[in-house]
Amino acid sequence: MEPPLIEIRAATVAFGAHRDKTVKLALNAVSLALPQTPSITAIVGESGSGKTTMTRLMLGLLKPTQGAVLYQGHDLQQMDRAAFAQYRREVQAVFQDPYSVYNPFYKVDRSLLLPLQRFGLVKTREEAYEQIHQCLQAVGLRPADTLGRYPHQLSGGQRQRVMIARALSLKARVIVADEPVSMVDASLRATILESLYRLKTEQQVSLLYVTHDLTTAYQIADRIVVMYNGQIVEEGEPESVIHAPKHAYTRALVAAVPPPDPNIDWGLEAKALPR
Ligand SMILES: Nc1ncnc2c1ncn2[C@@H]1O[C@H](COP(=O)(O)OP(=O)(O)O)[C@@H](O)[C@H]1O
Ligand SMILES: [Mg+2]
Repeated sequence: MEPPLIEIRAATVAFGAHRDKTVKLALNAVSLALPQTPSITAIVGESGSGKTTMTRLMLGLLKPTQGAVLYQGHDLQQMDRAAFAQYRREVQAVFQDPYSVYNPFYKVDRSLLLPLQRFGLVKTREEAYEQIHQCLQAVGLRPADTLGRYPHQLSGGQRQRVMIARALSLKARVIVADEPVSMVDASLRATILESLYRLKTEQQVSLLYVTHDLTTAYQIADRIVVMYNGQIVEEGEPESVIHAPKHAYTRALVAAVPPPDPNIDWGLEAKALPR
């Protein structure tokens, strides 16, 4: 049987062990797998529930204290160089603050060119620019308005979409996006989420979408995973999680959702969150 695309297997992450011997379990025996077919999985939960720790595990930025992370069925900690390089290219991050990942002294072109060259995906500069143009357009950016500029000359929403274009240019199979729209204006949120949604339908990219916003999770996800205190307390299709939440914490989350903003055009199949 084909292994999952990416899998967290019974992973525990412990922080601390200070002088007072307290240990915080940021994740407590959590398992989660993304299927091979392109999908959007939303991770929702309050601050401190372990969402970011989960993304850091998936991105290989953190090793589990117990358990394992597997990509295409191979444990990250036992991969050979070639498999690890492929994993590094195919699993890409989009972070909350799009400014922090740019070097302010270089034009954004550089953050698009370098990874393409480093992963040996292009032979010439022309070929690189051709791909960069295509990827910028795929996320709704005009290359002429984007290239040749410094990060501060772009809006937060543009910077965020350049990061998505970058992941796309690397032929990523998974994008791990930790609160990707929490720092951008509400009016831009829908555009960025639509770009991410399109990656699944048009480019076969899977998305792990981390958010504390149940409404957008419901809008774009195929599956919602609810985290609470380092554990997954509930998961399922958005309809069932929202309509019939089983866990008390999920019920509280659903009850706390503000009504939808009628001024935002989602561009997706309009899907109002049931009240
Ligand atoms: N580097 C760290 N050192 C100590 N504790 C941490 C560290 N990273 C996260 N934690 C703790 O682990 C828990 C989960 O954090 P995090 O994964 O960032 O949650 P979320 O992203 O859902 O807000 C929190 O209690 C947090 O304080
Ligand atoms: Mg977080």
